[in-house]
Amino acid sequence: MDRSKVKHIFVCKQCGKESAKWLGRCPNCQTWNSFVEATVNLSRTPIDRPCSREDIPQELSQVETGSFPRLPVGCGEMNRVLGGGLVPGSLVLIGGEPGIGKSTLLLQILAKVAENNGLVAYVSGEESTNQIKLRAERLNLGGKGLFILSEINLAVFLRHLEELLPRLVVVDSIQSVYLEDVPGVSGSIAQVRECTQRLMYWAKQNNVPVFIIGHVTKDGSIAGPSVLEHIVDVVLYFEGERFSNYRMLRSVKNRFGSTNEVGIFEMGHGGLVEVENPSRVFLSTHKDAAIGSIVVPVLEGTRPLLVEIQALTTSVGFGPPRRIANGIDFNRLLLISAVLSKRAGLRISNQDIIVNVTGGLKINEPAIDLGIALAITSSFRDSRPIPGLVALGELGLNGELRSVAQVERRIVEASRLGFKSFLMPKSSPQLSLDDIGIRLIEASSISDALRLGLTKKVGREQ
Ligand code: TYD
Ligand code: MG
Repeated sequence: MDRSKVKHIFVCKQCGKESAKWLGRCPNCQTWNSFVEATVNLSRTPIDRPCSREDIPQELSQVETGSFPRLPVGCGEMNRVLGGGLVPGSLVLIGGEPGIGKSTLLLQILAKVAENNGLVAYVSGEESTNQIKLRAERLNLGGKGLFILSEINLAVFLRHLEELLPRLVVVDSIQSVYLEDVPGVSGSIAQVRECTQRLMYWAKQNNVPVFIIGHVTKDGSIAGPSVLEHIVDVVLYFEGERFSNYRMLRSVKNRFGSTNEVGIFEMGHGGLVEVENPSRVFLSTHKDAAIGSIVVPVLEGTRPLLVEIQALTTSVGFGPPRRIANGIDFNRLLLISAVLSKRAGLRISNQDIIVNVTGGLKINEPAIDLGIALAITSSFRDSRPIPGLVALGELGLNGELRSVAQVERRIVEASRLGFKSFLMPKSSPQLSLDDIGIRLIEASSISDALRLGLTKKVGREQ
């Protein structure tokens, strides 16, 4: 490489801000110690130029709106997250912790596409072809039409791809590949950025969708500069609890669809299986009207999902009372506890409070406030919720209940699974529901809701 055509710069790992000299703190995102050295290749190679039919400016009104046919990936949950399949020429980044199942998921998807749509290619810089074959056997994949290549030189495998002309490509992982004409070891900022850019141009030139796998750092972001996320079209995260078999596929950026959708999978002996009826999964251990347990219909994207919130209160033996929140925001738990003691007169200041969302789900919706408050009170008073109850509502600091969005869809899902009493804020807008045999219980304040949602009977019998 001609050294005179290489410029040394410093790049912020967090936000991608560039600077001619090293800085201790990024003036853009204020992160300390985030600048690393990178090099820019000033000699423009032809491949650096995205050349396509759209090279010349076109008047917007003259652009044909022909809908681009998406490539369905043979996996309903993945299609849902992508917004209905892969757009030709799109670059999709999928991030997740090591061992979460990224390679497994994409190998399964490739096999499906190979079966239905034609040749596909899996390029791994991490595993040998033997290792990939072993995994495929474990997943019971025949492998017809699925070409695998163990290679870390990006230029070499792009040449192979040119001959193969696959319908879909997976690069596992972006941190393990390198380009010879870019300085730095694979995984360095400069390499990751250039390799991604090169893959982007390849995808656009050939109109072939490319998946790239990215490792995440300890703080949960995709390793390498976050500019990586700016380059690609779609960013997905594959996540799950370490000891749970359930995995969620979330989209945090999607140029061709909504970012609200969530795909749910279960990891088993034969790989990942789509979970088509997640409500049943997350409620499977639910015993109707158990003390300290409330069912709440939350929305994951456009899909209503019933989850169970459990709470346990115990008297403090020693030291200050503790609050433990699993699956919900800790500060939200503090707020709800404070409202319960101040507005509903619950003497819980000397209680340890533990709240848990079953199934390892994490929920951020304020709509679960009322469910949490009911679960805590039910445990504290040893009183059961009324039979078949689901509860929904956001809690205000004055103890008032606020309405939440899309109540109808949640009610329909709850009713489908046999829950017939629906506790919700009085302020909710008029519902347009068919007669599905559900009893609506309206409460305007938290004390109202506690009175209406929990039985008076005190007792611990199971
Ligand atoms: P992998 O796809 O290698 O994860 P990643 O690419 O994200 O690092 O998944 C590895 C984990 O998945 C490993 O802990 C074993 C588990 N696994 C199963 O439970 N069942 C299976 O059929 C397969 C292939 C893997
Ligand atoms: Mg892997």
